[in-house]
Amino acid sequence: MSQATAIAHPNIALVKYWGKRDLERNLPAVSSLSLTLDGFATRTTVTTGTAADEVLQDGKAASPGFASRALAFLDRMLPGREPLRIETANNFPTGAGLASSASGFAALTVAAASAAGASLDPTHLSRWARLGSGSACRSLWGGFVAWHRGVADDGSDSHGVPVAGPGHWDLVMVVAVVATGPKSVGSTEGMERSRKTSPYFAAWVDNAEADVAEAQEAVRSRDLERLGTVMEHSTLKMHATMHTASPPLLYWQPATLACLQTVAALRADGTSAWATMDAGPQVKVLCARSDAERVSQALRPHALQIHTLGPGPGVTLEAP
Ligand code: PMV
Repeated sequence: MSQATAIAHPNIALVKYWGKRDLERNLPAVSSLSLTLDGFATRTTVTTGTAADEVLQDGKAASPGFASRALAFLDRMLPGREPLRIETANNFPTGAGLASSASGFAALTVAAASAAGASLDPTHLSRWARLGSGSACRSLWGGFVAWHRGVADDGSDSHGVPVAGPGHWDLVMVVAVVATGPKSVGSTEGMERSRKTSPYFAAWVDNAEADVAEAQEAVRSRDLERLGTVMEHSTLKMHATMHTASPPLLYWQPATLACLQTVAALRADGTSAWATMDAGPQVKVLCARSDAERVSQALRPHALQIHTLGPGPGVTLEAP
């Protein structure tokens, strides 16, 4: 029997990944850039030597959908593998647009590789994590991480690349949770619908590489206005491809718009804060740590919960 436990953190894209150039391998149509967060975490233990596969989530048998997705991923990652016991838990809401699939697949990849005695090279692990959920390939590292779309058909050049560690820049994401519960349309289905039906999808792809280059430069020079501006533009362009899909994908709730307007008002008032969203109604606001309290206060009337999360580390293995 061997056992390994990995802890991974979600990442929030500053420049978004939306759309696949290869559905089977989770190869993205666009490059992206993210910030790995502290505070929220997935802890996953993988044990070998069991009689049959077993998947536990938060101490109980996982739902059939969750278990089959995790096991199908492990079949691809470790062909001919032995039965495994997987125990996973999040300290934040699962499947609600808070990047639980990124931390979940990053933790599962590293724990499974370690328990199975497979390669622990981070680039290798990042390619594997990408097969579970695209955005998971960025959670291998802490801080600011790029994911280049790559051109190779086999996906060998499509993995996370660290840009700057968590200590590089003390920014925070103030996360306004405006609705809980699982999202209405999952990201894979949403991406495919946008790609196939939105007349704006081609323009989205055309602009993305320049946005990643711009954001990377802004991170290197610690220029918050430059980073915030390209970040908000990227998210609104992504949501434009969602809104113009057929049928439309409208993840926003009234409180989502209220938060976006609050951020614009804060900015008009001299606070450097910019918003981003994913495939869900939550609004995440990037600002300096010194402005986090003011931003939280302003968002509070519209949110069920507020979390202030700073730059976090990459995946870690717990000592046995
Ligand atoms: O990794 P997935 O399949 O959960 O897709 C993530 C998509 C977005 O969160 C909307 C954007 C991103 O880059 O994380």
